[in-house]
Amino acid sequence: MTVIVKINDATGTLIWEFNWEDNISLAKMAKKNNIEIPVSCGMWACYACACKIISGAEFIDIGKISVPLVDLSLDEKWNYQDVLTCVGWIKSDFLKDQWVHEIVIQKMM
Ligand code: FES
Repeated sequence: MTVIVKINDATGTLIWEFNWEDNISLAKMAKKNNIEIPVSCGMWACYACACKIISGAEFIDIGKISVPLVDLSLDEKWNYQDVLTCVGWIKSDFLKDQWVHEIVIQKMM
């Protein structure tokens, strides 16, 4: 049905939420909604765009194009704890089912 993405600032305060659109990276979607997430390399190599995943890691495609070149930590269920938002997308399958899903990510700076 839809995926709601919530973005916290570095202190954990909610600064924006929006319904996800398919085929766009988290950083581009945030920018489209006037939330600035720093992007440097734009190709999963520098960590500038990293955000902490607070919840909903299972809905995030961590590297739509390829596996990130930097190490990202995993939790006990093998979900990523951080996402490189320049290449992090929402898994399309979750936009097509009957449920409303929620993802919360937190800016690191
Ligand atoms: S901007 Fe470098 S990893 Fe995303």
